[in-house]
Amino acid sequence: MNTSPMNPLKILLVDDEDGIRKVLKITLESAGYRILTAPDGETGLDIFVREAPDLVITDIKMPGIDGIELLKRIKHLNPETEVIMITGHGDMDLAVKSLQYEAADFITKPIDSLDLESAIQKAQDRMAISRNIKTYMEDLKILVEEKDKKLNESEKLATIGQTIAGMSHAIKNIAGGLKGSSFILEQGIEHENRQYLKQGWEMMKGNIDKITKLSLDLLNYAKTTRLNFQLENPNTPAREIVQLMTHKAKEKKINFKFLPSPEKKMALMDSDAIHNCLLNLVANAFDAFDESLDPEGQKQDGPRQVTLGITAQEKEIVYQVKDTGAGMSEPVAASLFKEFITTKGVNGTGFGLMTTKKIIEEHHGNIRFRTEPGKGSEFIIRIPLRTKG
Ligand SMILES: Nc1ncnc2c1ncn2[C@@H]1O[C@H](COP(=O)(O)OP(=O)(O)OP(=O)(O)O)[C@@H](O)[C@H]1O
Ligand SMILES: [Mg+2]
Repeated sequence: MNTSPMNPLKILLVDDEDGIRKVLKITLESAGYRILTAPDGETGLDIFVREAPDLVITDIKMPGIDGIELLKRIKHLNPETEVIMITGHGDMDLAVKSLQYEAADFITKPIDSLDLESAIQKAQDRMAISRNIKTYMEDLKILVEEKDKKLNESEKLATIGQTIAGMSHAIKNIAGGLKGSSFILEQGIEHENRQYLKQGWEMMKGNIDKITKLSLDLLNYAKTTRLNFQLENPNTPAREIVQLMTHKAKEKKINFKFLPSPEKKMALMDSDAIHNCLLNLVANAFDAFDESLDPEGQKQDGPRQVTLGITAQEKEIVYQVKDTGAGMSEPVAASLFKEFITTKGVNGTGFGLMTTKKIIEEHHGNIRFRTEPGKGSEFIIRIPLRTKG
């Protein structure tokens, strides 16, 4: 147990079975936790928003919003929340699915109190790691503020700190994914179940791809002053993205519009680096139509449009990437560009926007965004027009 009587861990318990709710509440309260209960997913979600519990334990099978759906919505509202799933006998398919949506763990019915305690303990350990990283980040921020004379040094430190924090988060996700996939593989071997073997293997491959991408992202992120500035037509890197992504747009039934600048202005930029930035933004815009980013299904019937526009103004080049996708929740929007954050589970690292910002700043430009949940987002990059040196 890891709770102080002054500040007990707040756990939300969601289960449609009255008996289980009562028994677990009593067991967990006597172990020192503060327990909130909900008989269904809808009520659970309301309580989650109102009470911000530290941890959620939910039954996987429930009428209405089921456990998986609840898990998805909670992760959308706050990706840091750890969720433990309760599964029945024969719910292995659902348990596997929940691991893919980043459940912290699952325990099987009939619930063994030792299993439960150990799952809570593990979730707490994970939360403590995230908290330590946060505190570390805050300390670094204070350091930066205090040392505004020596800003350069401190900024470097803060960047290193953020990179470590981002890496830990990404590695934590990958480790979770690998643990999930090896579990599924084990089940497949044990039960000689081809389906599990296939699922486990797919998930394992996804995680291997993710590690590969993470190391590339890190390399990119760590790259300093190696930009290769040349006079370029600002439309060029954008046109490459259109070629690269048109097929994907068709596949995802997205209306992808390209509005190049009619002006023939040349600008000093690293075309490959700008290509990467635009690719990150357009890939994010496409992802904004994925079901996992829109758990409430608000965008199901809306227009699916992504626009990549460029305007050459007198003193700057402006790139605009706009989508009519899911938009972002408040906490996600507030963290953007400040820390490595992803709401895409095993499919994201959170390096995309941080790298983009870094590259744009190295071009002496800036990046801003607007977003509205259920309506879409817009990212604007401004790069001052320098024609030499
Ligand atoms: N256009 C968008 N619409 C909705 N959410 C977005 C959009 N762009 C960014 N986000 C949110 O910001 C988060 C961070 O984006 P970022 O590109 O840094 O990382 P990522 O896309 O999750 O992973 P990757 O490193 O693979 O790009 C995303 O996970 C998503 O929640
Ligand atoms: Mg991205």
